[in-house]
Amino acid sequence: MQDEQAPDGARGAEALPVAGIAAPARRHTLALAVAGLLLALIASLAGFLLADGPAAGWAAATRLTARVSALFFLPAFAASALAQFWRSEATAWLLRERRGLGLGFCASHTVHLLAVIGRSITGDAPSPVAIVGGGLAYLCVFAMALTSDDRAVRRIGPKRWRQLHLFGMHYLWAIFTLSYLGRVVRQDVPMEHALLFTLMVYAMLLRLYQWLHRPR
Ligand code: HEM
Repeated sequence: MQDEQAPDGARGAEALPVAGIAAPARRHTLALAVAGLLLALIASLAGFLLADGPAAGWAAATRLTARVSALFFLPAFAASALAQFWRSEATAWLLRERRGLGLGFCASHTVHLLAVIGRSITGDAPSPVAIVGGGLAYLCVFAMALTSDDRAVRRIGPKRWRQLHLFGMHYLWAIFTLSYLGRVVRQDVPMEHALLFTLMVYAMLLRLYQWLHRPR
């Protein structure tokens, strides 16, 4: 799902080479993908155990899985800029593991989708706007996950690959940010939503700064 896997031709402002950081060969892609799935399943289970009845359980699972997804999305979204501006073992690790973080996000967000379906079946169906807007987001998520390796870049070409991943990441960012902004304005669980909204905004500012300082 991440541009670090792409050849140089597919790289853009969001994936500037980071001089001085030698990337060890070993990655933890599968482990991170499985971690996304397990954490989302555990969050759903916790939602059901703490909720009062199945309808409330699906609702809690929907909210908690979105939060797990945000924890995978944020570092994947900001990794390149973080590694460029703060060179350290930790930021080099984030950069190296972006594909795994992206796949972890995909796995966790698939559980979000299942929770949304469960919630709809128990009577709380989403609005047509949420179905269309969210549906397009899922097309992006699955398309990016399926094209997250070098072979896919060769198959569809670096330019189209970059367009897909750039559009997808920014579209997902917009949904997260607007969802949290709406909740902050309505003051639902203000601290958690305000924190996630702030982190989303910081991540975008960082990417913007990186883009403005790209080599021309
Ligand atoms: C068809 C697709 C989707 C539907 C129908 C849907 C539906 C929902 C529903 C019903 C909730 C719970 C609302 C509440 O009880 O407050 C929710 C929460 C949320 N969803 Fe989705 N969603 C979809 C896709 C997405 C996508 C693609 C993203 C992110 C890119 C996303 C991010 C969120 C966030 C951030 C929350 C709030 C979680 C919280 O309260 O902390 N959703 N979604």
